[in-house]
Amino acid sequence: MAASLQGSFSSTNISLRSARVGVSDSADTFRSTISFSSQLPKFSFKSLEKTRQVHSLRTIVRADSSSDKMQIDISLSPRVNSVKPSKTVAITDQATALVQAGVPVIRLAAGEPDFDTPAVIAEAGMKAIREGHTRYTPNAGTMELRTAICHKLKEENGLTYTPDQIVVSNGAKQSILQALLAVCSPGDEVIIPAPFWVSYPEMARLADAKPVILPTLISDNFLLDPKLLAAKINEKSRLLILCSPSNPTGSVYPKKLLEEIADIVAKHPRLLVLSDEIYEHIIYAPATHTSFAALPGMWERTLTVNGFSKAFAMTGWRLGYIAGPKHFVAACGKIQSQFTSGASSISQKAGVAALGMGYAGGEAVAIMVKAFQERRDFLVKSFKELEGVKISEPQGAFYLFLDFSAYYGSEAEGFGIINDSESLCRYLLDKAQVALVPGDAFGDDTCIRMSYAASLSTLQAAMEKIKEAMFVLRPAVAV
Ligand SMILES: Cc1ncc(COP(=O)(O)O)c(C=O)c1O
Repeated sequence: MAASLQGSFSSTNISLRSARVGVSDSADTFRSTISFSSQLPKFSFKSLEKTRQVHSLRTIVRADSSSDKMQIDISLSPRVNSVKPSKTVAITDQATALVQAGVPVIRLAAGEPDFDTPAVIAEAGMKAIREGHTRYTPNAGTMELRTAICHKLKEENGLTYTPDQIVVSNGAKQSILQALLAVCSPGDEVIIPAPFWVSYPEMARLADAKPVILPTLISDNFLLDPKLLAAKINEKSRLLILCSPSNPTGSVYPKKLLEEIADIVAKHPRLLVLSDEIYEHIIYAPATHTSFAALPGMWERTLTVNGFSKAFAMTGWRLGYIAGPKHFVAACGKIQSQFTSGASSISQKAGVAALGMGYAGGEAVAIMVKAFQERRDFLVKSFKELEGVKISEPQGAFYLFLDFSAYYGSEAEGFGIINDSESLCRYLLDKAQVALVPGDAFGDDTCIRMSYAASLSTLQAAMEKIKEAMFVLRPAVAV
């Protein structure tokens, strides 16, 4: 086990190791490693043109930036080389491999509800198969589902859309990427408050745009400071991505703050807002959800993304959607038509059943939200008892984003120095056998993310182990 815990979480490292092995390969599969310290955008592909010609198409270059290790395989497109693999997926896979090897790891890394899809939804999926709804649907989604989505957006969000202003996709992830591809030109800037969902910056890069990261403070509950936003907008700013309730922080944007942001957006006609509302139903009173597009003047400027994965525990069904002005949404549909075509016919039938369960998902969703809230309350109380840990009480979603930086610099016997979020997570995986995600994956290295999509008894067991592991450490800085 020890050996498997030695490596970095970064799946990049796995490739780097194989790259080094490959140095002795024959000429046509020759690979070499080159280290350099500059950030990737400064890297010139021209400088490697010669190497490319001499050594076939598989040369791998290693780039060590201050915060990350990256690999460049010049047999691949620069676009794909500019994208980092998902750390949450890498850690989840690593934890799963340990469990399969018999190590009792408590997995709190994945962003996936631990509940089963409500029976009425599952039944609708099975009925769809039985009744032969197994063919291609229209590219943008069935009229039945898009009509149900329009009804939901009207009733729950105060938003008026027609079915031709909706595109249903294989998950909200696809909806977001298509939106970026549809509206960004090369060199455009995509403004992303940090901590952010891991995929936003990478998706911006895939769209040849530049992610512009705006840091937030735990003391501000990780909410974007409108003054910072105003200062960063320029003529290249194309898209602002807002996520409320937020993954990874659980923060919920109050309506007043969204209104301040809307005032700024209104002054910049080229700037659009992508409002990721996938956690809208997983919210804890007194917090309430506001759809950005519902604010005065913002309907025309907003692309609203939502999906079924989180509230309805439907991650594997792969169903999400975008709503917005027809001009933009049709462009998303055009991309989808050459990419995946319509989402699964079976999932779409299940989606109709989900939206038929009542306001905000009705009783079945309310039961899940209540369970999430109990877990949140337990964890917040427990972490408040842990010396040196800073916490912003989440108002929604099912994550805690905890500032452990007071422990950076501490030395653990038999482990070494904990100097960042990644080494802390490795330490906790090693000593406490709890899998968490380093905050640097979300753009904030002071923190680590814990998902509480696990039973209360699992969380209690995890908490005991984390406390034990942290107790032998002492905060390295006075708290
Ligand atoms: C903030 C956020 N947006 C979008 C998604 C994508 O969800 P899906 O593609 O499962 O609909 C996720 C999933 O983790 C998420 O956390």
